[in-house]
Amino acid sequence: MAKLLLFGATGNLGREIAKVAKLQGYDLTVVVRNENKAKQLADFTNKFIVADITDARALTNICDGFDIIISALGKSVSPNDDSKASFQDIDLVANSNILNEAKKSNVKKFVYVSAFHSEKYLHLEYFRVHHEFAELLKLSGINYSIIKPPAIFSGFLDLIEMAKKGRLFNIGKGDKKTNPVYELDLAGECVASINEENAIKEIGGRTIYTRRALNEIIQKEVCSAKKTKNIPVWLFKSSLPILKVFKRNTYDKFAFFMAVLQEDTIAPQVGEMKFEDHIKMKNRNQTTKNMEPTNRLAGLPADE
Ligand SMILES: NC(=O)c1ccc[n+]([C@@H]2O[C@H](COP(=O)([O-])OP(=O)(O)OC[C@H]3O[C@@H](n4cnc5c(N)ncnc54)[C@H](OP(=O)(O)O)[C@@H]3O)[C@@H](O)[C@H]2O)c1
Repeated sequence: MAKLLLFGATGNLGREIAKVAKLQGYDLTVVVRNENKAKQLADFTNKFIVADITDARALTNICDGFDIIISALGKSVSPNDDSKASFQDIDLVANSNILNEAKKSNVKKFVYVSAFHSEKYLHLEYFRVHHEFAELLKLSGINYSIIKPPAIFSGFLDLIEMAKKGRLFNIGKGDKKTNPVYELDLAGECVASINEENAIKEIGGRTIYTRRALNEIIQKEVCSAKKTKNIPVWLFKSSLPILKVFKRNTYDKFAFFMAVLQEDTIAPQVGEMKFEDHIKMKNRNQTTKNMEPTNRLAGLPADE
């Protein structure tokens, strides 16, 4: 059975990739930051490597003996992520170090999760690093798949807490459209692409929504008594120059949001799950988690 090494396995998408890879019988090993993180993946594999992916020396020979690498590694765009590492550090430098190791170890296949339209917004750090790594991968000589989603459902989960507090807002009219994809559908595409030859796949969800509609689905589900608010584009934009000087990582995230909220980003449509059903399920799971601590203490699965 082919030996697969997965980076970013503790992330929203990586976890689903681990699930699909296990179901499809791959011999799966995951790379995690610390051992506690590996425990979150115990349902899918008990083979893990603990490594600091920001330290090139910690990656030496990490790909030895593996046939396939999947990288769903990336700095989070969540405003709740306050880690010091930059998009450059994680998405470009760490992934490049992994790629160099993969070449040295004669890995046969490298699947990388990039971002839809990354080539269009090279002035924005988030997209530039995704694009540059994809270009390096294409030149590496390793058989590659580059997966390009516009957004994944779980990327919106932070908004649940904002909606509960009545702090969910639309930037501008919220009339631009996108089709986020369910992470399990996307994970299926990532694993299926192992058997493709040098593929670039843009993958969105089945249903197209306006940004406002996505926010309203969340607001209605978690607290219909409260309403989403509107922030004019100029107000949001006016914060960017100050952030750029004093909080570079936050600036890079806000500049990313500003760009994607101002244009339609619609990728080829796959999958069945609808955003409204996913939010309903996640919100109920979160509520149940909060109400039933004994389940968690007893080790019962909390989010399935
Ligand atoms: N979310 C979206 O809507 C979306 C849309 C388009 C493209 N993408 C791309 O798809 C990929 C996966 O996205 P995702 O939403 O699954 O991301 P995620 O949930 O934020 O997961 C990112 C993964 O990278 C790891 N990571 C981040 N910084 C790290 C560091 N300093 N050291 C070690 N590990 C680190 C995380 O580990 P920890 O669990 O230890 O933090 C996690 O396993 C990323 O490249 C992302 O840019 C995402």
